[in-house]
Amino acid sequence: MKKILPALLAMGLAFAPASLAFAQDGQGPTENSASEQAAAGEDASAEAAEEGHAETPHYPLKEPETLSWSFAGPFGHWDVGQLQRGLKVYKEVCSACHGMRLVAFRNLEALGYNEAQVKAFAGEYTVQDGPNGDGEMFDRPGIPSDYFPSPFPNHEAAAAANNGAAPPDFSLLAKARAVERGFPTFLFDLFSQYQEGGPNYIHALLTGYGQEPSPQVESLIQEGTYYNPYFISGPALAMPPPLSDDQVEYPDGAPQTVDQYARDVAAFMMWAAEPHLAERKATGFVVMIFLVVFAGLLFVVKRRVWAGTPH
Ligand code: HEC
Repeated sequence: MKKILPALLAMGLAFAPASLAFAQDGQGPTENSASEQAAAGEDASAEAAEEGHAETPHYPLKEPETLSWSFAGPFGHWDVGQLQRGLKVYKEVCSACHGMRLVAFRNLEALGYNEAQVKAFAGEYTVQDGPNGDGEMFDRPGIPSDYFPSPFPNHEAAAAANNGAAPPDFSLLAKARAVERGFPTFLFDLFSQYQEGGPNYIHALLTGYGQEPSPQVESLIQEGTYYNPYFISGPALAMPPPLSDDQVEYPDGAPQTVDQYARDVAAFMMWAAEPHLAERKATGFVVMIFLVVFAGLLFVVKRRVWAGTPH
């Protein structure tokens, strides 16, 4: 055993640089379609070679900013006012393209709405039901047990309406996207319980439009897509900038800016993806305290039990 460990360690050290290099090589080209590669042309590669850069940029081009969220850390909790604003932004802006098929209207009671309010909210949506006695599908107003309807009938229709890229469903998106933080940050993240990579990414993406691409990157941008250096899988995405200042009216006096909208809708998406996050953290904390006390008890008992045994 004593010899195996150092040997394993040495092997790890020997292979680590090789696998790292492989990972970096593997990143770029596979993420780009062949046409993008061709569009980049020889000029870009010549330029890149001169400058000594890798030919394909590493995405995202910019790291998202780390924001402070009410639901971060071991004592994380939801800011209900923020979630309500986020729901408003989702309903008035994002739901034109993005569905949320795993969240039911009745779930909104967790956002501080009562039954009557949820009923009224659901009634504003039209939901397809059926088949009726004649075997036909029909439309009716939503009820609390319905799920948020998707704006497009199917994936293909969604893609066709959006320049070939279907807007992803929001139900789990906040947990499905996160930019890797790399060494050494991820070590600290273990202790600070960092799990806000998704909301940080969504906020960065929504506020990241309108910047000037460098000439080298500009040549990689396909027609009909919008440059955004925070997009995780390319220089540009098919979503036009969805937010602008004063677009959504906030009844609670919060600033009506793109930055605030982005924070609120990102928090709302995190709630949608993990509605029981606050309970999970509260329970986890109690469990940790219990385990510490229990470990102490076990130690005392062990000393007691073995006290009379000579060794
Ligand atoms: C006009 C339609 C439209 C609207 C409105 C819209 N989106 Fe999108 N969204 C898209 C499309 C299309 C994509 C897919 C982009 C791609 O993959 O190139 C997308 C992708 C996304 C992604 C995923 C990016 C990724 O990493 O894959 C997020 C997050 C997102 N939208 C958030 C929002 C938010 C939040 C709103 C509301 C403030 C919103 N969108 C409004 C069309 C829209």
